[in-house]
Formats: sequence, structure tokens, C-alpha cells
Amino acid sequence: MTVPATSRGAWKSSAGFIIAAVGSAVGLGNLWRFSYTASTGGGAAFVVLYLVLVLAVGIPVLTAELTVGRATGLSPIRALERIGGRGWRIVGAMFVLLGFLIFSYYSVIMGWTARMVWDSARGTIPADTGAYFTAISTGKAAVLWHAAGMMLTIWIVLGGIRQGIERAATILMPILFALLVGLATWAATLHGGGAGYSFYLKPDFRALLNLDLIASAAAQAFFSLSLGMGAMITYASYIQSKELNLPKQAGIIALSDTAVAFVGGLVVFPIIFHFGLQESIGSSAIGALFIALPKAFHSLVPGGALIGTIFFIALYIAALTSAISLLEVVVAGIIDAWGWSREQAALIAGGAILLVGIPSALSLDWMGFLDKFLGEAMLAVGGVLIAILTGWIWSEGADAEVAHGFPYPALRRAWLWLLRIFIPVVLAVVAYTTFKQVVPLARALVGG
Ligand code: TRP
Repeated sequence: MTVPATSRGAWKSSAGFIIAAVGSAVGLGNLWRFSYTASTGGGAAFVVLYLVLVLAVGIPVLTAELTVGRATGLSPIRALERIGGRGWRIVGAMFVLLGFLIFSYYSVIMGWTARMVWDSARGTIPADTGAYFTAISTGKAAVLWHAAGMMLTIWIVLGGIRQGIERAATILMPILFALLVGLATWAATLHGGGAGYSFYLKPDFRALLNLDLIASAAAQAFFSLSLGMGAMITYASYIQSKELNLPKQAGIIALSDTAVAFVGGLVVFPIIFHFGLQESIGSSAIGALFIALPKAFHSLVPGGALIGTIFFIALYIAALTSAISLLEVVVAGIIDAWGWSREQAALIAGGAILLVGIPSALSLDWMGFLDKFLGEAMLAVGGVLIAILTGWIWSEGADAEVAHGFPYPALRRAWLWLLRIFIPVVLAVVAYTTFKQVVPLARALVGG
């Protein structure tokens, strides 16, 4: 049994691992991106398509990442080198860089959320939430709240696997679930909310024939499950038990993540429709929900400040436990590659990400470009590489590793075949479609 060196740290229990992995998956992607993608992409038909992609692409790739992580007990750079050979170090390094850059703008959005907690609690969100959003989303305030979130994330990651990450997730995630269930229940009592449910869920199956939509659902699933850049490899490298059934863990993580995204929509849409704010979300711009929801809370005369505060606290918790995993990929990569201490790695990497994130706190266009390019296109590229590595190059090793805890050879074979052909094809289409969308964004940036 190759127990990972305990000096790297390890989860206290399998439950601790799962809750931390669900914490990584459940994030801004669930509560903010999912709802508007679903509402503009065919409602219930999108939800069904999304579920199919989670099952056929998300769970197999998640299983692959967990397998690589547990088998090697290493973070991406050295893990990929160990199973694929020296050349794969470059892919591992690309993963760490992706974590670094994705976190740089993710932290800025997390900062907006914190700011909204603060302002809703004090009841100081003005009626013109469009102007409010413009004021807080870029500029000095955005930089400061970004820095505050970064420091909080660094502080948790400094605590290490058990005392930092596992403990934070174990405390925060149950609070998040309780807040969401409470919010969805409250939203169900709103007059006019029914129109919100039907807008969210009215199936339009014609939408499913649209390749762009399929690609955006797959990209959304990838981002939401934290796949394609080694976050799950890193978390799985701290698993101690060789008996843990990895496909089952992947299923639990993926279904919890999907359930939260779905419930997120059940919170958001009745609120939007109750207050007649549907026009403001159709635009599906980065800030849509950050404009419509505060407006709703503002109009809700008794209790709007309270509900708004609860909503943004939930969003902040979701973002924070994801941010932790993004930073941990970078920190673990540095520790394993250069032998730095966790303190050094967390402080220096976190500080660098803080600086690199500043442009995203100054320009929404820049942030939108990074999100498309890195958060969609490059994650799909990362997914293709992981699928090829586990499906073709390391398939015997992968099969043997999953066999611990998963004694079903036929299912393992089916899994490997999905990774060999179907998944690389789907993800290549995602990469192609999203790269095409990156080009005009990049042009607009350089053209000014
Ligand atoms: N999954 C998170 C969300 O839905 C974001 C996230 C965390 C992430 N770690 C990641 C995305 C790694 C891609 C890769 O918000």
C-alpha cells in the first residue's frame, strides 16, 4: 500500500475528503452561472442535457482525476510526470498556471459577493442596482474586497489539509446547505414565483440541437465540477484509504454539485419573477444576477436586507470553499515541485495571485475574456489531456487503481472506453466552440 507521505498532509476521514471536494465543486459556478445559462438555454431541456453531460463526461473525468491523485499521492506536476513520463510535467505545470489565473479573477467576483453581504446587512444598497454594480465591480473597492478574500483564503490554506481545508469545509458546507434550503423554501412562498419556475424549467427541446448550447452545457459542467486543471487530482492525493470506491465518490460529488445548482435556480427565478425583473437577466452578462437580485432584495420591504444578507452569505461560502481548492492546487504544486514550506508557498503564491487579479478588478472585459479563455476553453483542453492520459497511456495503471474499492471489470472497461474516444471528442468540440468565442473578446480587448 502506497500511503502518501504524511508530511504532505492527508484528510482525516473519507467524509472529510468528500465534503472538501463538494466544497470545491459548489461555487459561484452553481449559483450564478448555472441559472442564467439554463434560463437562456432551453430551461428544463438544458437541465436534462446538463445532467446527461455530468453523467457521461463529468463523472468519468472526475473519476480519472481522483484515480491519478490517489494512485500517485502527488499534486499535478509530479503526478502526471509519474504516470505519463517527463513530457507530461508541462501539462501539470499548465494546470498549476490555470489554477493561478482562474483564481485571480474568481477572487474578484468573490469580492463583489462580500461587498454585497456588507452592504445588504447595513441596508445601504441603493435602488439603482445597475449603477451600484458598476460602482462596486471595478475600481478601488473591487481591488480591496478582492484582497480581503485572498487573505482569508490564504489563511485557511495555511492551516493545511486537516486543520485548514477539511475543517473549513466541514463547518461551512452544512451552513451553506441549510441557507440554500431555507432560501428555496422562502422563495416558494412568493406570489408570481410560478412564472419564475416555468421560465427556468419550461422545456424547449429544440434548443438541444444547437451545438453551441451543448458545448456551453459541457463547459459549465466542467467548470462546476472543478475539472480540467488538477484540483481534484490534488484533493485525491490526500486520500489515505485504498479501499475507497472512487467512482462512487465521483458520483456523490457530481450529484451534490448538480443538486446545488438546481436548487440555486429554484431560489433565483421565483425571486426575479416576483419582482418583475426578468428583462435584466436575459442579457446573461457577467453582472446580470448581481444586478437583478440586489434590486429584488431592495424592493422587498420588510426583510429584504435580511434575505439579501443570507443570500450573499451563501454565495460567499460557496465561493470561498472553491477558492480554497484553486489556491491549494498552486500551493501543492509549489510544495511538490520546489520543496517550499506550506507557509512560504501559500503566502507568496497568494500574494502573486492578488496582484495578477488586479486587472480583473479594473476591467469587466478583461475578466470576461479570462473566464471564456481559461474557465471554459482551457479547462476543456485540460480535460482532453487527462482523458487521453488515463484512457490510453496509463490505462492499465488506472484500471488497477480503480479496482481497489470498485470490483466491476466490465464497468471499468466501459469507463476507459469513454475516456478514450467519446470524451475527448466531446471536449474537443467544447474547446473548438469556446475558442471561437474567445477570438472576438480578445480582439475587442486589443482593439480597445
Ligand atoms: N467549481 C467551482 C465553481 O463552480 C470553481 C472552481 C473551483 C474551479 N476549483 C476549480 C473551476 C477548478 C475550475 C477548476 O464555482
